[in-house]
Amino acid sequence: MFIKKRKSLILLFIVLLIIFISVSFYFLQILNDESEVRSYVRKIEDEIIRKLPAIRKKYAKRISNSSLDAFLTNIKTFTAFTNNEPLWEEAKSWVSKTQLYDYASSDLGNVLHALKTARIIKADIDTRGTQLKLLLTLQGQQQAIFKPKWYPVEKIINGPVYGGKDRYGSEILAFYLSGILRKPLTAPSTERNISLKDDIVPVATKRLLKTIFDYKSVKCVYGRCFYCKKEDPVCEDETKNLLGAIILNINASFQNNRSPWQRTYRTGKFAQWEVREDYCGIVRDKVTTDRLLDLIDASIFDFLIQNGDRHHYETLDGNVMLLDNGKGLGNPYVHHFDILAPLYQCCIIRTSTWKRLTELSGGLLKEMLVSIPNVLNYVTQLHLDAIEHRLYFVYATVEFCRDKNKV
Ligand SMILES: *[C@@H]1O[C@H](CO)[C@@H](O)[C@H](O)[C@H]1NC(C)=O
Ligand SMILES: *[C@@H]1O[C@H](CO)[C@@H](O)[C@H](O)[C@H]1NC(C)=O
Ligand SMILES: *[C@@H]1O[C@H](CO)[C@@H](O)[C@H](O)[C@H]1NC(C)=O
Repeated sequence: MFIKKRKSLILLFIVLLIIFISVSFYFLQILNDESEVRSYVRKIEDEIIRKLPAIRKKYAKRISNSSLDAFLTNIKTFTAFTNNEPLWEEAKSWVSKTQLYDYASSDLGNVLHALKTARIIKADIDTRGTQLKLLLTLQGQQQAIFKPKWYPVEKIINGPVYGGKDRYGSEILAFYLSGILRKPLTAPSTERNISLKDDIVPVATKRLLKTIFDYKSVKCVYGRCFYCKKEDPVCEDETKNLLGAIILNINASFQNNRSPWQRTYRTGKFAQWEVREDYCGIVRDKVTTDRLLDLIDASIFDFLIQNGDRHHYETLDGNVMLLDNGKGLGNPYVHHFDILAPLYQCCIIRTSTWKRLTELSGGLLKEMLVSIPNVLNYVTQLHLDAIEHRLYFVYATVEFCRDKNKV
């Protein structure tokens, strides 16, 4: 009896010891990984930050000016039509593997105006993605996506770069930024107020109607998607308006691809790209140079708006598009440097991209951003300042690469 008891005590002790050792080992490994990641990315980041003052001086000069910018002129001029069908047809004709809209078209402003004002003739749930979206059909048979405003514009999102819900302002600003950067790879988007009661309910599909309900004197909607639930709806404001981003739905056969720089979405667990300085070599073996240059363009775009959530990306006939930009502009005080990993790991950039980026030096980028119609309705000045600041980060990263390629 006594011996048996001792035996089981020893057994228990051994089991506990094994558990203790594996748990400590596990935590040690996490800590190790983390410090490894930190030291590698920190080192690059420190080098780049050290370059910033000199870079600011170097790129303080204007080499071009905004008064002649066709894109900014085109988005500001519009005529209203009673029948928008010919306009939608034209917008369709713009779409190709190199552009989702024509930034040089004088009809661009008309398309934005029509998105903002055209009568909604059908409203449905858009089940693509994980967040609440409506799929609207506008007069003239054009589909558009509506992403509602969830937060006050000045709300700062803390936590991981992919945290929080969609920011409708990020979606809209991304469109304008794409035009300014001469990368018309996002869908045209603008602000729009809708009334759930007057614009949506009369033309809603059954499945959408089921998710609309009255709350006090207004209507709310929760839709159907991964994160949609009745306890978490969006509601009209006291003037019975629901503000949001309306985005032209591009009817093309996009392919969905997993990003080689995808995050793990788990704290303490790192992806290969986060721990391997030579990660670009692995990607180079798998994709063409054109695709790699596209992904680097995308990383610069995402870094500027701080979209760290492009875990998948769309291509059209093999070219990378920049759809779904709602996760940008979370925190203007934070610069998530690792979004630029494709650039500082591969150290290549398209000549045309670099040329355009340098044309925006000397404060021109900010000047152009500020001149976007009503821009401060949906983003704060702090975010515009942050985008301008990050442009110099990009210049410094390219400078870092020049130094690195020399040795
Ligand atoms: C912008 O360009 C126009 C035309 O070339 C020129 O007249 C004007 O002085 C320029 N403005 C600035 C601020 O460089
Ligand atoms: C939307 O409606 C609100 C009032 O509810 C108004 O303050 C705002 O300017 C409107 N925005 C647009 C883009 O029409
Ligand atoms: C999308 O394009 C296809 C092929 O051109 C067409 O058959 C379909 O009706 C279009 N859908 C919408 C909603 O426009």
